Amino acid sequence: MILQPEEAKVSVYDRGFLYGDSVFETIRTYAGEPFALDEHLARLERSAGRVAIPLPLPRADFALEIRRAIRAARNPESYVRAMITRGSGPMGLDTGLAEKALRVVLVEPLQALPATMYRDGVAVTTFKTRRAADEVAQGAKVSNYLTSMMALKEARAAGAHEALILDGSGDVLEGTTSNVFALTQGVLVTPPEEAGILVGITRAHVLEVAGELGIPVRVERLPLETLRSATEVFITSTLREIVPVVRVDGQEIGARVPGRTTRAIHAAFRQKVG
Ligand code: PDD
Repeated sequence: MILQPEEAKVSVYDRGFLYGDSVFETIRTYAGEPFALDEHLARLERSAGRVAIPLPLPRADFALEIRRAIRAARNPESYVRAMITRGSGPMGLDTGLAEKALRVVLVEPLQALPATMYRDGVAVTTFKTRRAADEVAQGAKVSNYLTSMMALKEARAAGAHEALILDGSGDVLEGTTSNVFALTQGVLVTPPEEAGILVGITRAHVLEVAGELGIPVRVERLPLETLRSATEVFITSTLREIVPVVRVDGQEIGARVPGRTTRAIHAAFRQKVG
């Protein structure tokens, strides 16, 4: 059923609303086509599996529904949020109380990000925490982003674009809604899945593009010191693609302007999606 946003209603007993008991994906279109839809739906299925939310419909049928919603929205380009909640039922933490998983697809016009972000790079801050749900749902894209929201709030108060999350040993994991890469001694480093990151789809494409460009890559732990002394740093996400980072906690990175490798990777990524 396709509805206008103001007509769409979700029960106040929905567990996504009551407990953040849901998983989601953020997808965007290029030329009206959802980019990497299969990869996003595979990750959604993995996320749902990790928190034992049954899929309300087969993956291929959900893909058709998402495409239908995008077509109906008639946006030049769309930002899509595909969610699955455990559904509604009597209150209580027992997952068995939920009656039937609910799916929602939100489609909005994609807002272009300011070109200055790519041209000049952005500042980030660091924040020691864990994503709220990571203890049980490592790597799942569950909807509870409260700790990330608090980290981002602090970053924005400091005039930064994004907060990078550090783990207990001070290693850099990822941004609140992005993955992170550092170019150090000519090698592109990004933290591994086991560190507790959300394995980004843009990250996977960047790793592929870097390989094609002949840039040496290592997927390994990224101590904050390594990041600080890197020649280039960038973050990646579906909505932002690749954004150069030129300042970390007020300290300048490399040559203080977006680096050559970052720009080359972004150009190659654009070619791939365009
Ligand atoms: N979030 N890490 C976290 C914690 C994220 O929430 C996201 C993306 C990423 C990047 O993943 P991808 O390249 O697949 O978008 C990494 C989506 C974009 C969001 O902002 O809702």
